[in-house]
Amino acid sequence: MRANGIVIAIDGPAGVGKSTVGKLVASRLGYRFISTGKMYRALAWKALEAGVSLEDDAALVALARALKWEFPKGAGPEADVAIDGRRLERELVDERTGRASSAIAKLPGVRLFMKDMQRQAGLEGGVVMEGRDIGTNVFPDAELKVYLDASPKARAERRVAQLKAQGLPADYDEILDFIVKRDAQDSGRAVNPLRKADDALYLDSTSMPRDQVVASIVDMFGKAGGK
Ligand code: DC
Repeated sequence: MRANGIVIAIDGPAGVGKSTVGKLVASRLGYRFISTGKMYRALAWKALEAGVSLEDDAALVALARALKWEFPKGAGPEADVAIDGRRLERELVDERTGRASSAIAKLPGVRLFMKDMQRQAGLEGGVVMEGRDIGTNVFPDAELKVYLDASPKARAERRVAQLKAQGLPADYDEILDFIVKRDAQDSGRAVNPLRKADDALYLDSTSMPRDQVVASIVDMFGKAGGK
């Protein structure tokens, strides 16, 4: 048993609600929540700042190694991502950073660096970790694995509703196109592509309310021997 509880791995495609669900599960269990996408985004942001090529695996790894990475407690269950003492927030949601993070996530050296760092961050348990390869690559030994799915149309509709609720413009066709392309990129990658681990619980949230998704995971938590 790990010192602080089990590791819960949540994987799935972009825009499926892994963060929302993961944070709710973590709150219910008194666990920490870690978004590994934010780590890729943080390195991408720094690379853009420093003018390091998004295709130069060795230079990106050298950049990543030279940084001081910390994951301090944030306002809710989610850990913040800080590099060299700077907590990154708005920097990470920028569209340019998102695209850059997807590009560097293809590189084997970058992925290995991230895997080591993510294992270190979650090793003691008591953590919900969200990403694309947590159950298959980072924590193949996670005590509970969830693969969260939803149709591209359902994900696009939710995103449109979210943006409209914030008073922001939202074009359904453009968003659907973005989701389909991101899926192809994440699943078609040669190194650690997005896929369901054989032993992961498959939850299709296309027509399942969010509370039911959370309840299913909390239920499995008890069965997985979580504490
Ligand atoms: O979940 P996100 O959109 O914040 O992730 C940003 C990018 O990082 C995404 O294109 C896929 C990549 N990523 C990854 O390859 N492996 C992870 N475990 C997490 C994210």
